[in-house]
Amino acid sequence: MRNKLVIVVFTIFLGVGITGVAFDMRSFTTQAQVKADGGMPEVIILGKDAKLGQVTFNHVKHNGGTYSIDGTGPIACIECHHTAQPASELAKMPPLKTSWPADRTTTLTAELYKKDAAAAGVAACRDCHARAGQTPKLLPEIPSVKHEGSTAIINLVNQQAFHRSCDGCHFQVGSQNPAAKVPKPTNCVTCHKRTA
Ligand code: HEC
Ligand code: HEC
Ligand code: HEC
Ligand code: HEC
Repeated sequence: MRNKLVIVVFTIFLGVGITGVAFDMRSFTTQAQVKADGGMPEVIILGKDAKLGQVTFNHVKHNGGTYSIDGTGPIACIECHHTAQPASELAKMPPLKTSWPADRTTTLTAELYKKDAAAAGVAACRDCHARAGQTPKLLPEIPSVKHEGSTAIINLVNQQAFHRSCDGCHFQVGSQNPAAKVPKPTNCVTCHKRTA
């Protein structure tokens, strides 16, 4: 079970003009959030419980079309939401293999989400990539991964999963375009901010 420290608070800016309404995800399932929201989350506060401070992730900007590595189109939803595609697609991209829900036949896209948010099947990263020492909501244990040609088994706690997913792209964008305002993987406080 999630304890008090593991609250991920989503700040959802509702399209109807109510801004800054914070939902405590302990009392909202994915479904409820989708219903209350009606659209995709715009800004998500991650890592509320991180010692280094919380991370403000602008979901809308990351999906707006200018944040891809080459800057020419939107980042595919499944680049981050990697489980939101059928197992047959994942078979082409090892070491990834896990679909959620397990029997899904659809690939998450903006269109699919718009058409039927509940059926689009988006799960929060932390529901699988729990914090160290905690049991995830959707899996029996925290996932781990072994890359081809390596013997290292990486335990994908939240820190590993988020850093690998987020930093990988920022690193590539930053090395292609030094002027890009991407967070630096080695400069922790470009993402983690302490609230006073
Ligand atoms: C750059 C990475 C990234 C991309 C691209 C991305 N998302 Fe997300 N999305 C996230 C993260 C991170 C969260 C927060 C998950 C968490 O709290 O663990 C999230 C949360 C969500 C949620 C809320 C899930 C919940 O907890 O109930 C929905 C719905 C969603 N995304 C849909 C989409 C759709 C649709 C697309 C494609 C149009 C997309 N996302 C593209 C990173 C991304
Ligand atoms: C339903 C459970 C689940 C959800 C939700 C989930 N993951 Fe994963 N993740 C896994 C599993 C299991 C693996 C190990 C590979 C596999 O089985 O597909 C993994 C692997 C990874 C990897 C390692 C990939 C590699 O090539 O080494 C990263 C990074 C990652 N996840 C980030 C994320 C992010 C970011 C989110 C949210 C946007 C997310 N995951 C959502 C279960 C999940
Ligand atoms: C596929 C590429 C990609 C991925 C994946 C990605 N980002 Fe970014 N991110 C960018 C780009 C590009 C920028 C901004 C570049 C600019 O403004 O010049 C950016 C900017 C940011 C910023 C600076 C403020 C802002 O919103 O512009 C933060 C913070 C950030 N990203 C956090 C994250 C987090 C947290 C994740 C993982 C959940 C993530 N990013 C995943 C490409 C990515
Ligand atoms: C791209 C933005 C970004 C950068 C840069 C970054 N982090 Fe993170 N970090 C995150 C996100 C997002 C999470 C996951 C938050 C969550 O679970 O909701 C996280 C989680 C963590 C956690 C786990 C927190 C917990 O207790 O759950 C630690 C520890 C951490 N980061 C340390 C660091 C350190 C040290 C650095 C610098 C070397 C760093 N981070 C740089 C985005 C970043």
